[in-house]
Amino acid sequence: MKNGVKRFHELDTEAKREFYSRDGLKSFVYNSNFDLYGSQPALNWRDSFRCYLYPDTPKPEEIPVACRDILLEYGKHIMKLGTLLFELLSEALCLNPNYLKDMGCAEGLTAFCHYYPACPQPELTIGTSTHSDSDFFTVLLQDHIGGLQVRYHDNWIDINPVPSALVVNIGDLLQASFLFKSAEHRVLANDVGPRISIACFFRSVGKGSLKLYGPIRELLSEDNPPKYRETTVAGYQAYYVAKGLDGTSALTHYRI
Ligand code: OGA
Ligand code: NI
Repeated sequence: MKNGVKRFHELDTEAKREFYSRDGLKSFVYNSNFDLYGSQPALNWRDSFRCYLYPDTPKPEEIPVACRDILLEYGKHIMKLGTLLFELLSEALCLNPNYLKDMGCAEGLTAFCHYYPACPQPELTIGTSTHSDSDFFTVLLQDHIGGLQVRYHDNWIDINPVPSALVVNIGDLLQASFLFKSAEHRVLANDVGPRISIACFFRSVGKGSLKLYGPIRELLSEDNPPKYRETTVAGYQAYYVAKGLDGTSALTHYRI
């Protein structure tokens, strides 16, 4: 998967041009900085491509040959793993193991495949600005370069690469619904590279994205009142994208 992502990003500009787009409806788009025109205070040192994988899996010919077969294959494995994780998270909340799946959390899967070129002056910029993910959770595969950090209280902790290991980040939509906390993270720019990473987002798309998500009634009590207003996945995503990666949490907007 890492080789496939590197192969695509290292194609000639001409070969990548046909995929360059910011059209949210296209199944495969390649670009740099989704908040390019409003980003604060600086752009991220990174190019990315995004591919919707489920529930509407693209036709093979919609995906560039450089990563076509592996992306479809990898997506199948991540879907299986994610489904199992939703069962475990449901159990951890003392709910029926199918609870989160039945809510539709595992229906949508989108891959974001990043390429962080070596940066001559890493102290002047950042690979990915501080953020938490706008999804239920993200399964992240990173290569050996490093730079990923998570905020724990007021410290940034390195999430050092471990060969063959995946990182799972809880996203804002799980925080808004339940007792889990979304992980604030960032990626430092590095003078070595390129660094490759693949972030698979579990988030409803299409019709499922119009369903309301909010605090789970079974988990509410006098001691545990609702903390967030309900929102649709599409509504949350639109607010998140409009706000851009400015280092603040989009969830604040939904706090009761
Ligand atoms: C993301 C992300 C981290 C990385 O895509 O949301 O946080 O290691 N990626 O690229
Ligand atoms: Ni992220």
